[in-house]
Amino acid sequence: MPVISFANAKGGAGKTTAALLLATELAHQGYRVAILDADPQRWISQWHDISGPQHNIEVISEVSVASLQGHIRELSRSADYTIIDLAGARDAIVTTAIGLSDHVMIPVQGCAMDARGGAQILDLIKLMEDTGKLKIAHSVVLTRVTSMVTTRALLTIKGLLAARGVNVIDTPIVERTAFREIFDCGGTLYTMDAAKVSNLDRARENAQAFAGEVMRLLPVKVIRSQEPRRFLRIVRNAA
Ligand SMILES: Nc1ncnc2c1ncn2[C@@H]1O[C@H](COP(=O)(O)OP(=O)(O)O)[C@@H](O)[C@H]1O
Ligand SMILES: [Mg+2]
Repeated sequence: MPVISFANAKGGAGKTTAALLLATELAHQGYRVAILDADPQRWISQWHDISGPQHNIEVISEVSVASLQGHIRELSRSADYTIIDLAGARDAIVTTAIGLSDHVMIPVQGCAMDARGGAQILDLIKLMEDTGKLKIAHSVVLTRVTSMVTTRALLTIKGLLAARGVNVIDTPIVERTAFREIFDCGGTLYTMDAAKVSNLDRARENAQAFAGEVMRLLPVKVIRSQEPRRFLRIVRNAA
């Protein structure tokens, strides 16, 4: 069961949106998905409250540093993918989640503040890798991309990150009304009314392409390569 965290030390980068789009798309494709809501602001939990029970999706709220590892261990029996939504911080829970993840997604909106928040996570990952002599797979995902952001500007950002050796997900998450509606109305892109939400088909295509890339990166039969005990040691050092 791949564990995927969404981290950026800054709020508003698009973590929760990207996490929920991935979760709902994977669930739509038939995977059993667990979302650990590790943000005290409980955005995912609130979405779940207004949505009601969702097929293939389990949401676990009020996740703490102490409970994180136990949740993951338990979920490894019942979920195909576990997705962790983190607060815009660089604290113990963020560090613990990163240490327990098979892949860390770093959403970046392309603005300077976001890039700095993203860089803080990249630095944290590097510190954890150096201290623990392990690899923490991670990628930047560009979010809230609008037609105002030129292909050229995007290519520049991708080039800069590639020069630093950072993997960038090919599919950027586009700025779409449908992605905001999910949080206002509950449900998923597949329960929304196409007559009421503009460009819903495009939004679905975008979520599908993003999830497709994640699935190729992390097929469900991933074998965990690190010993949990080793993770804990590193987490303690880095926090
Ligand atoms: N791709 C997107 N299209 C439209 N609105 C978005 C998109 N991504 C994020 N938003 C909006 O931006 C705000 C911050 O996004 P959010 O996912 O909550 O970021 P974070 O979890 O990093 O704080 C929210 O109001 C959200 O609805
Ligand atoms: Mg959030």
